[in-house]
Amino acid sequence: MNALAATSRNFRNAARILGLDSKLERSLLIPFREIKVECTIPKDDGSLVSYVGFRVQHDNARGPMKGGIRYHPEVDPDEVNALAQLMTWKTAVADIPYGGAKGGIGCSPKELSNSELERLTRVFTQKIHDLIGIHTDIPAPDMGTNAQTMAWILDEYSKFHGHSPAVVTGKPIDLGGSLGREAATGRGVVYATEALLAEHGQAIRDLTFVIQGFGNVGSWAARLIHERGGKVIAVSDITGAVKNADGIDIHKLLAHKDKTGSLKDFDGGDSMEPSELLAHECDVLIPCALGGVLKRENAADVKAKFIIEAANHPTDPEADEILSKRGVTILPDIYANSGGVTVSYFEWVQNIQGFMWEEDKVNNELRSSNHVTKKQPSQTRTGRSLGTKQVSNVVALNVDGQKSLDIVEQQDKSSKSSSRTSKPNVAENDNLDTQSSHPKFNDARWKNGTWDLNMFVKDGKMDWDAVIVAEARRRKFLEMYPDSATNERTCGV
Ligand SMILES: NC(=O)c1ccc[n+]([C@@H]2O[C@H](COP(=O)([O-])OP(=O)(O)OC[C@H]3O[C@@H](n4cnc5c(N)ncnc54)[C@H](O)[C@@H]3O)[C@@H](O)[C@H]2O)c1
Repeated sequence: MNALAATSRNFRNAARILGLDSKLERSLLIPFREIKVECTIPKDDGSLVSYVGFRVQHDNARGPMKGGIRYHPEVDPDEVNALAQLMTWKTAVADIPYGGAKGGIGCSPKELSNSELERLTRVFTQKIHDLIGIHTDIPAPDMGTNAQTMAWILDEYSKFHGHSPAVVTGKPIDLGGSLGREAATGRGVVYATEALLAEHGQAIRDLTFVIQGFGNVGSWAARLIHERGGKVIAVSDITGAVKNADGIDIHKLLAHKDKTGSLKDFDGGDSMEPSELLAHECDVLIPCALGGVLKRENAADVKAKFIIEAANHPTDPEADEILSKRGVTILPDIYANSGGVTVSYFEWVQNIQGFMWEEDKVNNELRSSNHVTKKQPSQTRTGRSLGTKQVSNVVALNVDGQKSLDIVEQQDKSSKSSSRTSKPNVAENDNLDTQSSHPKFNDARWKNGTWDLNMFVKDGKMDWDAVIVAEARRRKFLEMYPDSATNERTCGV
């Protein structure tokens, strides 16, 4: 089943369980905007080559759209669409003020030189720069892209719009990246795994783990599991697979991969067929590579009791059904890997504040963020007999759907716009005086053209998050009503 069909099926199941209005269901399935651009670059040998780049902006009911940019030969519009939709649900489950987006270029990054990758990224940015932005759509790295890619996007974007570090996350630290971002997705995967296992009376140190993918997410998850005493007994990546029933020394494997660029010929374990990895005997299986790797054909062979979906949509709905019937607990992607987007949100907040957090603060905020402590999708907490995956989708849809419903109702009342997403957070938050033909920004804390910071002090402490949210709403308002009388100066914070 292709990625879009699988994601849409999960969504429809959740919509049915919630009894969602069919108009709203349809509206939430259709992306806000789909962008497809041609990117032609000169190669190093002077010949020309063309690639197709995509950006799908799925939904902005809860805030600016957010999602990675992937460079991979299999990138196609359906997959990008599915991944953008997943980002909407993921940011809703994580309860961060973002919507969902995703992008990609159909290319093999390993076959391009660094300067070719730079030219490609800059051309792609030139084509989409008007449609992304700090309060519109904020790209991040994904498979095949990294901090350097984000640095090129930031530099190219800034040529058009002025210095704008918050337009991308996952940047190099020197350009405004966040400490802790590189490890964040893997770290979030491990926090989420710990929380799930605790519900089952188990702990990482007592269990065996198999990990598919040893890139950013897989290697950090493996390292942190190893450091907590868990036994990682098999690992694979595109170059091969390695196993050791006594547990692989992950630090040694990382050093070997750094030195040779491959998992092959590692002397701390035996090599194995990568195709046998998913069916390897273990307690916990963590797919950290591609989507759709667990399907009808191989689901029955899985021996693990827990599957942690660190990759995006690694389990298709048919495999889900087979595995759930066999009593395997699946921690869904939109919950399990949301640590990455959560710390991306922290990075964006730091950029807007013009302030840098210590790494410990980032990790502690991640640990105590909603996605770990409050919104864990468990059957027991919902009191309904749903799989964790269904519950997660229901939580997401409940959060995002309710916001969208508020917006649709507001729009119906004001009849001011034909677009469902063109007047979101402002009206919803009562910051809009709609009676006037020149609507005024209506927030008691905005006085004489600046924020009254005294009104943001809570329990003797400045609530900077509240300032940022208020300012984001005001800017949104100004975007929508450029003639508004309040457009006299920018925020003085
Ligand atoms: N990086 C993030 O912050 C983040 C956040 C959320 C979700 N994800 C998802 O996690 C997954 C991995 O992302 P990443 O950032 O670690 O990417 P990455 O490019 O750093 O690593 C991908 C890994 O998968 C391996 N791989 C590719 N094809 C494979 C195959 N056929 N068999 C075995 N291994 C294979 C690669 O060799 C590499 O080790 C993706 O699905 C991505 O969408 C990433």
